[in-house]
Amino acid sequence: MKIAVVGANGRTGRLVVDLALAAGHTVTAVARDPARLPAFEHGTPLTARADATRPGSLHEPLAGQDAVVTALGTTGRRATTVFSAGAREAVAACRAGGVGHLVTMSSAGLDTSRLPFAQRLVSTLVVDRLYREIHRDLARMEAVLAESETPWTVVRVPMLKDGPPSAGPLVSYGRPLPLAGTAARATVAAWITAHLGDPEAFRRLVHLADD
Ligand SMILES: NC(=O)c1ccc[n+]([C@@H]2O[C@H](COP(=O)([O-])OP(=O)(O)OC[C@H]3O[C@@H](n4cnc5c(N)ncnc54)[C@H](OP(=O)(O)O)[C@@H]3O)[C@@H](O)[C@H]2O)c1
Repeated sequence: MKIAVVGANGRTGRLVVDLALAAGHTVTAVARDPARLPAFEHGTPLTARADATRPGSLHEPLAGQDAVVTALGTTGRRATTVFSAGAREAVAACRAGGVGHLVTMSSAGLDTSRLPFAQRLVSTLVVDRLYREIHRDLARMEAVLAESETPWTVVRVPMLKDGPPSAGPLVSYGRPLPLAGTAARATVAAWITAHLGDPEAFRRLVHLADD
């Protein structure tokens, strides 16, 4: 398949690029500064330069892709529109370019209803307060996706960490996981890469965590 990864220089994005190359896909790594992309273990992607929030910037790199992954992020906890603005641009570009599947990352913190009481309390009183602005924009992003005509998948993850992938990740379609501590970026990248173009994942919120 032809795959584009937006945020390809990010810690999850670069893992998706490498795994998609390993799977034999033709990969376009989209980054604000392609010169800063790392050397990939499994091949060399095509590259494109784009600020994902700039109107129209994603149209050319996403045109004709079979699937697109956005793994945008922000530094700090200030108010941001990078997720929602990036999603609007990605959705418009996917629609114009005939893309078959759009996958984005979001946060498990958006729905803590199934966590055990103590964990929910910490999440509500501490985590959500700290990350309120990020969560607000991720919620706006999810709303943009929900309106999208392009089949989409939102992958909600708990706190991310580096390191090897989980051998048996916890996955829940729709309902949040009752216990979701952390997820290795490698776990998330592996799940996303394995489900590119998967109709079972279309228009689904997928909750993912390490076991
Ligand atoms: N960290 C966590 O614990 C956690 C928890 C829950 C959910 N998440 C979600 O996980 C996702 C990815 O996390 P991560 O740690 O892999 O991200 P990351 O390493 O922080 O990478 C984010 C990438 O986004 C790119 N980016 C930011 N603004 C951009 C723009 N306007 N145009 C193009 N690219 C832009 C950055 O590009 P540059 O390289 O040019 O700066 C960077 O490569 C995020 O959506 C985050 O909300 C994270």
